[in-house]
Amino acid sequence: MRILATGGAGYVGSAAVRCLLANGHDVTVYDNLSKGHRQSIPSNILVEGDLAEREKLTATMKDRQIEAVMHFASWIAVGESVEMPREYYRNNIVNSQTLLECMQDTQVGKILFSSTAAVYAPSEEPLNEDSPKNPDSPYAFSKFAVERLIQDFSRAYGLGYTILRYFNASGADPEGKFGEAHEPETHLIPLVLQVPLGKRKEIYVFGDNYDTPDGTCIRDYIHVDDLADAHRRAIDATESGKGATYNIGTGKGNSVLEVIRTAEKVVGKEIATKIVDRRAGDSARLVAGAERLRTELGWQPKYENLEQIVESAWKWHQNHPRGYGS
Ligand code: UFG
Repeated sequence: MRILATGGAGYVGSAAVRCLLANGHDVTVYDNLSKGHRQSIPSNILVEGDLAEREKLTATMKDRQIEAVMHFASWIAVGESVEMPREYYRNNIVNSQTLLECMQDTQVGKILFSSTAAVYAPSEEPLNEDSPKNPDSPYAFSKFAVERLIQDFSRAYGLGYTILRYFNASGADPEGKFGEAHEPETHLIPLVLQVPLGKRKEIYVFGDNYDTPDGTCIRDYIHVDDLADAHRRAIDATESGKGATYNIGTGKGNSVLEVIRTAEKVVGKEIATKIVDRRAGDSARLVAGAERLRTELGWQPKYENLEQIVESAWKWHQNHPRGYGS
């Protein structure tokens, strides 16, 4: 299939692009490189452009005879979104509407959308796709709003869509060539690994008084290549005029302290840890109920445990201590 990947030079986008190329798809990456990395994808598939550039976007879809869009491009930091709602709503919502209009104008009838577990209300139980929602940060609300935009375009104009709600994307390509490189980095696993790399004195644990077995927050860490494989399956299953929504997670949760202990085991060193105050907006527990993805799309994660995920991340960060710049 001829696929346009917006934000395809980012962490999750580039993993999906590699997976799609390996499976014979014809992929064009449309990325303004504000967050993405040129080095994470083959140079001949990149169109450097912004989603706000309507004419360029439309021309790219026409010239490349695009049949489906995977929409990864977005700003992703929950805390930052509270400080900068203007940028988050413009980059995530307004630009998504432009994308949908360009798709309509060029008769591109299918979209996959990167949404997030942050749309759910916190829950003790694994979250299934119909669990109550409470997108309480501008970031989470922007994702929720775009889900709704897509659903309404589907109802009114016959767009085919799949919404994928990611839990905690993590890990790196097993050869250590591609991995996570956010600036600034806010995610737990790369920050933990910065301690043994000598880039950080200690890892701060944001609160140990949550209502969880060890008092620290529980998340569902899902390897980025397993996320990518879910995209490959979902694009094949997406049909014009129809829509589906899936959680992508393993269904297993690990606490912050478990992540640190696992990293210590992988790197063979103790990791200095300091308990600090809670971070605003964190839920105690976010774990996926991901049965729908398994039963309907036959998806199965290859990385079944946290140790394998952290091992792959460690290989990447050791090889590339300054990200794609090194
Ligand atoms: N944490 C620390 N110390 C740190 C960094 C993180 O204790 O230095 C804790 C957080 O408080 C949280 C856990 O580690 O409990 C995971 O935090 P991340 O920042 O790695 O990930 P989040 O769960 O906050 O958010 C991620 C994505 C969001 C997405 C969300 C959905 O960054 O885009 O998952 O679950 F919306």
